[in-house]
Amino acid sequence: METEDIVSCSNTDLLKSCGTFRVLVGVTGSVAALKLPLLVTQLLQLPGVDVRVVTTEHAKHFYNPAEVSVKIYSDKDEWELWTQRSDPVLHIELRRWADLLVIAPLDANTLGKITNGICDNLLTCVVRAWDISRPLLFCPAMNTAMWQHPITAQQVSRLKEYGYVEIPCISKKLVCGDEGKGAMAEVSSIVSIVKQYLLKTDESPQ
Ligand SMILES: Cc1cc2nc3c(=O)[nH]c(=O)nc-3n(C[C@H](O)[C@H](O)[C@H](O)COP(=O)(O)O)c2cc1C
Repeated sequence: METEDIVSCSNTDLLKSCGTFRVLVGVTGSVAALKLPLLVTQLLQLPGVDVRVVTTEHAKHFYNPAEVSVKIYSDKDEWELWTQRSDPVLHIELRRWADLLVIAPLDANTLGKITNGICDNLLTCVVRAWDISRPLLFCPAMNTAMWQHPITAQQVSRLKEYGYVEIPCISKKLVCGDEGKGAMAEVSSIVSIVKQYLLKTDESPQ
């Protein structure tokens, strides 16, 4: 981290980061956000990994923050942090901090927004400001009818054009009772893909 970054993020807990590979988890308003505590726990078991979470407001309906052992940032933090010109802008601090962003789950709404460059909350601002040379992984999760709508494939392929990596959804009985594709990939699959990026970083010359 550069000196100017240290100064600018001194008002956040990002300075306390102890890992060498920093994973930012984006979480959106899919029922699969129930798995956030498990995902964070498993990511923290990877050696040298530090984790922070950026949540949408709707995602908050699905998990208990007390079960998530890392800082969860939301829209309120962005606006509380910035009160005057010299203050840090949280979405920029987070994109600087993170070596990898994984959006799990990525719901249909945020998929549509980020595909179109909309940035109206903390998570979509981080994505809009993302350094596309760094990995961005996304894990779609939605009802089968939403998944099968032709706009989904168009939007997913647009994200892949930017070099973002899809961790494909899987088929199973969904919470709404429908059976078919649209469930978020298993947490173990997501963690093992993050691990591959961690190993690549370890192998690359410093
Ligand atoms: C109980 C419940 C479960 C939902 N599950 C999903 C889901 O799995 N995938 C999805 O795309 N939308 C789902 N939605 C709809 C989203 O929560 C809604 O589109 C919301 O506006 C998403 O906001 P966000 O993208 O800012 O988090 C669900 C809504 C409810 C009430």
